[in-house]
Amino acid sequence: MAAALWNDLKGQVTKMGSTHLRTLMQDQARNDEMFVTSGQMVLDYCRQKVDVETMKKLFELAEKAGVEQKKQKMFSGEKINETENRAVLHCALRAPRTANISVDGQNVVPEVWKVLDAMKGFSDKVRSGEWKGHTGKPLTDVVCIGIGGSYLGVEFVYEALKTDPAAASAAAGRKLRFLANVDPIDVSRALEGLNAETTLVVIISKTFTTAETMLNAKTVKAWLVKQLGTEDCVAKHVVACSTALDKTKAFGIDSNNVFGFWDWVGGRFSVWSAVGVLALSLQYGFDVVNQFLEGGHAMDQHFQQAPAKENMPLILGLLDVWNGSLLGYEGVAILPYCQALLRFVPHIQQLDMESNGKGVQMDGTPVAVPTGAINFGEPGTNGQHSFYQLLHQGRVVPSHFIGFAASQHPVELPGEAVANHDELMSNFFAQPDALALGKTADELKADKVPDNLISHKTFPGDRPSLSLLLPVCNAHWLGQLLAMYEHRTATIGWLLNVNSFDQWGVELGKVLAKEVRGYLSQARKGSADDSKFLAPTKKLLAKYLDK
Ligand code: F6P
Repeated sequence: MAAALWNDLKGQVTKMGSTHLRTLMQDQARNDEMFVTSGQMVLDYCRQKVDVETMKKLFELAEKAGVEQKKQKMFSGEKINETENRAVLHCALRAPRTANISVDGQNVVPEVWKVLDAMKGFSDKVRSGEWKGHTGKPLTDVVCIGIGGSYLGVEFVYEALKTDPAAASAAAGRKLRFLANVDPIDVSRALEGLNAETTLVVIISKTFTTAETMLNAKTVKAWLVKQLGTEDCVAKHVVACSTALDKTKAFGIDSNNVFGFWDWVGGRFSVWSAVGVLALSLQYGFDVVNQFLEGGHAMDQHFQQAPAKENMPLILGLLDVWNGSLLGYEGVAILPYCQALLRFVPHIQQLDMESNGKGVQMDGTPVAVPTGAINFGEPGTNGQHSFYQLLHQGRVVPSHFIGFAASQHPVELPGEAVANHDELMSNFFAQPDALALGKTADELKADKVPDNLISHKTFPGDRPSLSLLLPVCNAHWLGQLLAMYEHRTATIGWLLNVNSFDQWGVELGKVLAKEVRGYLSQARKGSADDSKFLAPTKKLLAKYLDK
């Protein structure tokens, strides 16, 4: 870690801490420098608590931390996920057919395209009705079973494209459902109103051992068998996306119906693999999904080629580290002004918090600065009527505003001052200024606000945000947006020298749950030994079993 540089930046922290955004934003040359464009995308970060000198030092931090070298190692298939001895090559999943990306001396792109072609072939057959269910009916409905990285990204893209006109027309007459939570309520929600005769089940699990997914898979398999009267239905109604072909076979799935991927695809980066491509192609057709892949690839090229000062994922990563590890803000609000992005934030939450919620560096020693931010958010304007009060007058939470120049579904009412999308976007433009500038007591007095309300109505301002403006929420730009956030996450990890690609922190809870499961299983049968649990846990378990 470049300790001297962190110290140098601490000087910037003091300087920026005492300079209000009102002052910073008076410098038009500074603002212009922080208005970055790439093709039709804009990143405006002049409402961040940085001046040109701070940014210079942050770009130096990136150089000293070896971000460029680490990026090249990732793109060239080196095993940068050291604790799992794996390459990190989700970028290969969205590379063109002609690309050459090697792992252990082997070009993986032909393998990637072999699976993509197989998924196109399969989804075309299901969509056209050529692939029929056990009773001879076409399969119009799909239930995806998976959790975490094997769910969130797929649901985000599904929701985002649901109202895209081209994708929606390709999805006519089809349903896509998700079953993630092991809560039996989720089973009933996912299956509600579905007919087993016309339902295809896609089991998505990299390891094919995840407890929630395996129990849900068995539960839905039992539903299929009960409805269709025979185990034979599995051959036509159940397929899998996994790296564990032995386990999918043991589950009873024909190897021809398993779409594979590789250990160099991390769960939270896997929507570009069979994890996302199969279900999304079944719903929207492969051509739409391919536009998403192409969008992701375009962002890969931007990340690899754009100079630092124009490199959007790099700047996002630097600003998040500046805000989180140096200014000490603990959260990041992600605020898409687009209802179609309603599941974007949960996906980014997992992507960033599972990746960078780490306490030690690559060599196992503690990180010297705070790491990992609490990512949260809601689409605007709904969030404005929920938690923005806190953003304006409570805690300082650096915010990402994401908007689109055009709506998926423009509406213009005669007699209204503006079209509905302009109404939405009025908020997208207004909120960052309100956060940055605030409203002073003097301004309120000038507005003749009664004295007893002045302090209540004062807005301190000086709250950082950035704004991202993209053309329209379609498959291509969704690909660009998601890949940008993936590279933001990787950049943060490289700056902090943590491994963004492992997730050991999810293990302990799983182990303890296994002990409880064993205890509950015994207890339900009669008696069980609870001596291994803490006294308060024993007490709560006893109450639970009373019911
Ligand atoms: O939450 C932990 C995790 O391992 C994620 O990283 C992963 O995406 C998810 O569980 C599901 O894992 P799998 O795809 O193996 O079922």
